[in-house]
Amino acid sequence: MGEHARYDFSGRHALITGGAAGIGLAIAKRLAEGGASVSLWDRDTAALEQARNAFGPKPPHVIAVDVADPAAVAAACDASLRVSGGIDILVNSAGITGPNTVLWEYPVDDWDKVMSVNLRGPFLCCRAVVPHMRAKNFGRIVNIASIAGKEGNPNASAYSASKAGLIAMTKSLGKELAETGITVNCITPAAVHTGMFAQMTQQHIDYMLSKIPMNRFGKVEEIAALVAWLASEECSFSTGAVFDISGGRATY
Ligand SMILES: NC(=O)c1ccc[n+]([C@@H]2O[C@H](COP(=O)([O-])OP(=O)(O)OC[C@H]3O[C@@H](n4cnc5c(N)ncnc54)[C@H](O)[C@@H]3O)[C@@H](O)[C@H]2O)c1
Repeated sequence: MGEHARYDFSGRHALITGGAAGIGLAIAKRLAEGGASVSLWDRDTAALEQARNAFGPKPPHVIAVDVADPAAVAAACDASLRVSGGIDILVNSAGITGPNTVLWEYPVDDWDKVMSVNLRGPFLCCRAVVPHMRAKNFGRIVNIASIAGKEGNPNASAYSASKAGLIAMTKSLGKELAETGITVNCITPAAVHTGMFAQMTQQHIDYMLSKIPMNRFGKVEEIAALVAWLASEECSFSTGAVFDISGGRATY
């Protein structure tokens, strides 16, 4: 990647769920580049260690947590506060795809798992973090939703529904906090080549590519660039909003 905008995140602490890999890790690096200290929350402890070791000059705090578990989220929030003194930015990136199959054959347990990570997770993390942001009257929350939440991908009903729920939750919380210094926005990427592809069928990956007018997958750095702007102080008159990053796929 060539030149890119620099936002000043010095003195800010950013908490990134799903931060050990893929989109979350790219976002964490981009925010750290702007001077933020970061906490990576993830359930994959080996990936967390690897991310910390390869991160760069200012290693992140890494916290093992299942975002779907309220007690674990509360403990992780306390741990992040202890190392930072305050949380200014929350990025909810932890997510799973679930199996690719038609709804009438979709295993009920998998449906529940997808909902609990992709929707209950961001709910629990926002619920834990917002009171601390309110105390400082500043915050930037960015939720990683998906184009699937707007369009509904076939063979991904749980994933699509969870992301539609996340879009609606973003709108509700954005309005609840609109008169504070806290903004809440979400982004809706089309397919980006990350470890998540290992959870999908090749047929599903081909379907997603075929829907992108730019005829390529997005890059994690492109996602991080949009999130950096949404997490910056400069982005101050957008809240409860949904930002497209789909290579031309979205039509609304
Ligand atoms: N890759 C894509 O094509 C794409 C497109 C649109 C949206 N998204 C969304 O972007 C986000 C990041 O996805 P990615 O592509 O970086 O995937 P990824 O698999 O590379 O990273 C996801 C991370 O979340 C972690 N995680 C999963 N469940 C967790 C849990 N219960 N608690 C804590 N951590 C958990 C994983 O360990 C992993 O490190 C997801 O919410 C995904 O739905 C991805």
